[in-house]
Amino acid sequence: MKQPAPDNAATVMAFTVNGRDVSLSVRADITLAELLRDQLALTGTKIGCGSGECGACTVIVDGAAVPACITPALLVQGADIQTVEGLAIEDALHPLQRAFIDNGAFQCGFCTAGMLMSATALLKQNPHPSEADIRMALQGNICRCTGYVQILKAVQEAAR
Ligand code: FES
Ligand code: FES
Repeated sequence: MKQPAPDNAATVMAFTVNGRDVSLSVRADITLAELLRDQLALTGTKIGCGSGECGACTVIVDGAAVPACITPALLVQGADIQTVEGLAIEDALHPLQRAFIDNGAFQCGFCTAGMLMSATALLKQNPHPSEADIRMALQGNICRCTGYVQILKAVQEAAR
């Protein structure tokens, strides 16, 4: 007979998401992407490959862009997390979001949240990136339909 999961399989964790304090019980076997999507309903973070290769799930943890699909949820205890839902302030789009629209930098949009979060982390660390800096920052983000020229232009425009 299958044994029920022991109570200690879950840990109460506290962290912030998009500036909001969060405290909740988290199972030891889930990823940060699952925590965000399934427990916090922040479904802007997408899961593509699920193995750290496409960048669709990228979020910012303590200032660094990380692939949430391979980040154990338990690792974010006490962390400051930013997701794509935290970019716009009320109805005002973040400059990167505006630039992605203005430059046609997405089609299906599946990669877009991850692109935006990688670019956000870059611009926070380096407000005046070179083209090479942008390419380096986005190298882990794969887009299957738009191509990369418009995305590059959008990040350059947002930086300006
Ligand atoms: S879904 Fe996380 S890197 Fe592809
Ligand atoms: S816009 Fe479709 S994968 Fe990038």
